[in-house]
Amino acid sequence: MPVKPLHLGAFMRPVSLHTGAWRYPGSYPDANFNFAHIRSFAQKLEAAKFDAFFMADHLAVLNMPVEALKRSHTVTSFEPFTLLSALAAVTDRIGLVATASTTFDAPYHVARRFASLDHISNGRAGWNIVTTANPDAALNFGHDEHIEHDERYHHAREFYDVVTGLWDSFADDAFLRDVQSGVYFDPDKMHVLNHRGEELNVRGPLNIARPPQGWPVIVQAGQSEPGRQLAAETAEVIFCAPRDLEAGKAFYADIKIRVNKTGRSPKDVKILPAAFIIVGDTIAEAREKRAILDGLVHYASGIASLSIALGHDASGFDPDALLPSDIPETNASKSSRLQVLKLAQEEKLTVRQLAQRYGGYSGLAFVGTPKSIADEMERWIDEEGSDGFNIAFPYLPQGLDDVTDRIVPELQRRGRFRKDYEGATLRDHLGLFRPANRFFA
Ligand SMILES: Cc1cc2nc3c(=O)[nH]c(=O)nc-3n(C[C@H](O)[C@H](O)[C@H](O)COP(=O)(O)O)c2cc1C
Repeated sequence: MPVKPLHLGAFMRPVSLHTGAWRYPGSYPDANFNFAHIRSFAQKLEAAKFDAFFMADHLAVLNMPVEALKRSHTVTSFEPFTLLSALAAVTDRIGLVATASTTFDAPYHVARRFASLDHISNGRAGWNIVTTANPDAALNFGHDEHIEHDERYHHAREFYDVVTGLWDSFADDAFLRDVQSGVYFDPDKMHVLNHRGEELNVRGPLNIARPPQGWPVIVQAGQSEPGRQLAAETAEVIFCAPRDLEAGKAFYADIKIRVNKTGRSPKDVKILPAAFIIVGDTIAEAREKRAILDGLVHYASGIASLSIALGHDASGFDPDALLPSDIPETNASKSSRLQVLKLAQEEKLTVRQLAQRYGGYSGLAFVGTPKSIADEMERWIDEEGSDGFNIAFPYLPQGLDDVTDRIVPELQRRGRFRKDYEGATLRDHLGLFRPANRFFA
């Protein structure tokens, strides 16, 4: 029986998502604002036939204590459309996924920017729809307080209808450009949206031709009830952050059932968990690399993150002792407290090591050899935990090279990953259909 292939996205922060990464030997601490480095990352990922380069984005400096913030390279980054437009010019095939907020942006702007990126890149754009969780972003956009969570999702749903409606402003063949008759476009093939909804009024039409992909690929990463529902109704790629295969399978099953209920086909939605990958010649060597990396997280940053995860102030514990096992449950997240206790017990980590893990990167991680990592990935695919992965690199460039030079060939050898691109657009890479224009047959 043929094996099920997987999809690979790069979950990019130019220095890494891990807060200690800028201090790792051989890293580029200035990569956030060094375009030459970012270009080389994108080109390497394209040579390895990745589906997409995904740029996470935030609209405020992250809300962490200043002791942690001042040690983190994740504070600042390029504006995603400017960056991805530049990358579109130096790559040919890899998908380019940008994050845009439905809470702090206007649908006409968002529709226009993504349509532009899709044209500039010849059909490689994707929109990661976020409602923006960070309350500090609200203060940058004229609000005194953050907009309530479920209200943000309600607004996002209408926002999506408007953006996709605007992308359909012109039929695919509206632009005649008939030099003889002097007619540039056929007005019968232009639709004025005239959207008057509960929260948005947008006349249209969008002043840009229909994107090459019809619509750029819709991506979503909501985890809450309204977040999952928005994803099920709209998304074609869903990012998530399950901690282990069991949680991944539960999320996967829940989303695919929800998708089915909306009348869409579950195969038209690809679920890609974030996976942090550290490769070594042996499993022990890979773990050692992780220990070195985690060891670069400052204790003050780590202990704040650990306290949040535990729902309990951990700053009074002996840093070099094991975590006390009798930490009481509080009103904060119950599942994250249990996860900390489980991790502490399984890996026998001291309070300092736990703090550094939580201050660095505490999500799903594959740490091992190319073979052990490919084995784990195959299990996720075969047991319906995911349709691929959104890979977070521990440090760059070395951690990225380890994936493109060692993991990808192993997956290709097993028939799990493409050896070349078969199509030209991001939809082609993901096996997604091109949406019909809702106003023109
Ligand atoms: C893999 C992944 C990537 C994400 N990227 C972003 C991002 O770039 N910008 C952002 O504001 N939020 C990002 N988020 C946060 C989600 O949009 C969402 O706010 C979060 O998962 C909480 O879900 P909820 O909004 O349904 O409560 C990301 C989440 C995940 C799991």
